[in-house]
Amino acid sequence: MSNEVVYLNGQFVAPDQAQVSVFDRGFLFADSVYEVIPYYRGVGFRLQQHLDRLAYSLRAVRIEAVEDWAAILDELVQRNGGGNLSVYLQVSRGSAGYRTHTYDDSMQPTVFACTSPIRDIYGEGAEQISGYNVIVTADLRWHRCDIKSTGLLPNILVLQQAREAGADEALLVRDGLLSEGTSSNLYLVRQGVIYTPKRSSEILGGTTRELILELAAEEGIPYQEVDIRPEELATADEVWVSSSTRGVMPVLTIDGEPVADGQKGPLWQRMFALFTRFQHRLMTGEAQ
Ligand code: PDD
Repeated sequence: MSNEVVYLNGQFVAPDQAQVSVFDRGFLFADSVYEVIPYYRGVGFRLQQHLDRLAYSLRAVRIEAVEDWAAILDELVQRNGGGNLSVYLQVSRGSAGYRTHTYDDSMQPTVFACTSPIRDIYGEGAEQISGYNVIVTADLRWHRCDIKSTGLLPNILVLQQAREAGADEALLVRDGLLSEGTSSNLYLVRQGVIYTPKRSSEILGGTTRELILELAAEEGIPYQEVDIRPEELATADEVWVSSSTRGVMPVLTIDGEPVADGQKGPLWQRMFALFTRFQHRLMTGEAQ
């Protein structure tokens, strides 16, 4: 069961009962921010970190919306049967009742949330993860990629290009540097060290990225947040991408060329195992 109930502005309703104004600024201007939060066996995965980032995005675009987000999302997940679900939460600036570029404080934000089923990747084994084929292409996005805005047209066009080339994700390049994927962060491994682009307004501060770096620090796996040039991919031992719904994924080919021997690498295997252990600790209340 999933998506039988959605949340809209204080109410849990069937999707066809949920109505939003055609003048909603989320619809007209993508004047809205969002989060995607995985729930495994009914428990939010890094929920607080997602809510902190939501607060950051809302502040950055000056939308004032304060709700008991955790209570709303937990209830939505329960109403949709619990289990393994990804929750989509969107907050738009609301509607003036007509189309106008400018806004004022009288608008009521529109809050929408729904769920969809996800694989429990950490409940599976590393051998069940098939790995990604990716392409490398230009980053056409704006310069505030740290805000989780619903304005995803550049991401969508490039992901579609990747899909049509038989790939799963596209890695983006701006000013000669890799930024991230269309909906994932990026890592390169060389001689046992994890390298990932540093946080800036050019990338989204991924919650999974934060967890990977936390787990690496706990385990004494060295990592560096640095500029990465696309040429460096050709000589990497491993390349990974990460996101909430896909966890940490090994990249096996880039533009049709294998990464190293084209197999899932040993450090990825280790990080995947650390994730699995972390998820278990989360379920038993030992981790947050
Ligand atoms: N995307 N970078 C971008 C551009 C993203 O859209 C995402 C997530 C990430 C990874 O962030 P996190 O680890 O917090 O999920 C990085 C979500 C899943 C989406 O748009 O569906």
